[in-house]
Amino acid sequence: MEIHKITVIGAGNMGHQIALCAAMSGFQVKCTDSNPDILAKAISFADNYLKERVIKGKLSEEVANKALGNLAFVPKIEEAVVEADLVIEAIIEKLEVKRELFAHLDKICPAHTILATNSSYIVSSKIADATNRPEKVCNMHFFNPALVMKLVEVVQGPHVSEETVESVMNAAKKMNKTPVLLHKEIYGFLVNRLLQATRQEALKLLDMGVASFEDIDTAAKNGLGYPMGPFQLLDLTGLDLAYHVGMEKYEESGDPADRPSPTVVEKFTKGEWGKKVGKGFYDYEQ
Ligand code: 3HC
Repeated sequence: MEIHKITVIGAGNMGHQIALCAAMSGFQVKCTDSNPDILAKAISFADNYLKERVIKGKLSEEVANKALGNLAFVPKIEEAVVEADLVIEAIIEKLEVKRELFAHLDKICPAHTILATNSSYIVSSKIADATNRPEKVCNMHFFNPALVMKLVEVVQGPHVSEETVESVMNAAKKMNKTPVLLHKEIYGFLVNRLLQATRQEALKLLDMGVASFEDIDTAAKNGLGYPMGPFQLLDLTGLDLAYHVGMEKYEESGDPADRPSPTVVEKFTKGEWGKKVGKGFYDYEQ
């Protein structure tokens, strides 16, 4: 199936950029969020981003206007999905909340709609059985910032049909992304498993008092050539996400080693969730 119409559920850290990226690639996009403030922020981001690209000479005015015309922000989810070929869910990283959403989506989406989750860690087989279309439920995982990062991980769980995988891979390519296909479901997929190893070690070094977070970031950037240090990246992807992911994993495994690190718990509790709130490990202008 060729995908023309995409709906993104959740206009937060990831969703607003996935939606804009799809609109810039020629898809008809609707983006929805239950929080009106987040939706308003996403609208002004899209406007400003496209204006800036034109000023920078990276985009013609015509293309920017076309992208804006392709993108609608719709408060009501039922309205947002009514014609969708592909729904990309980008909401909070909590299994039960996602299962509830997918059960609802199954009822309100057309029969042909593919339901993809942008979850960072949760495999789609844990969500698919909340619907009556498991063969059309898969992982389509973007990276932050989604307008810039090229990779998309597509995961073919045992319940996912070839047709779904093909359609999603093609949609990712049309979004000018480089998709990779995982033939097996695995917690954290490829990138987050690699990232987690560095991140855990960085948090351990900090908690042990070996070096400051700034110096650990400097070491990763200048010693390994990483574009960002692990703490800058935690600020970008969100300390709230890191906390929820750790808690979900711990609740499932019961292994204390899976608990979020004391530093992540502290940051989460203080509301220092990173760039999106103006403070994480570093301070940011809002
Ligand atoms: N949103 C949109 N565009 C952004 C952006 C943002 N938040 N930040 C930077 N950009 C764009 C800039 O507009 C610029 O575009 P241009 O060159 O076309 O004009 C380009 O990115 C480069 O920006 P800068 O020169 O300001 O800054 P850098 O060269 O340092 O690049 C970066 C910024 C792209 C974020 C780079 O530091 C980087 O690649 N960092 C690593 C990001 C990463 O590892 N992401 C994966 C996180 S893991 C994840 O997402 C998994 C999930 O499950 C949590």
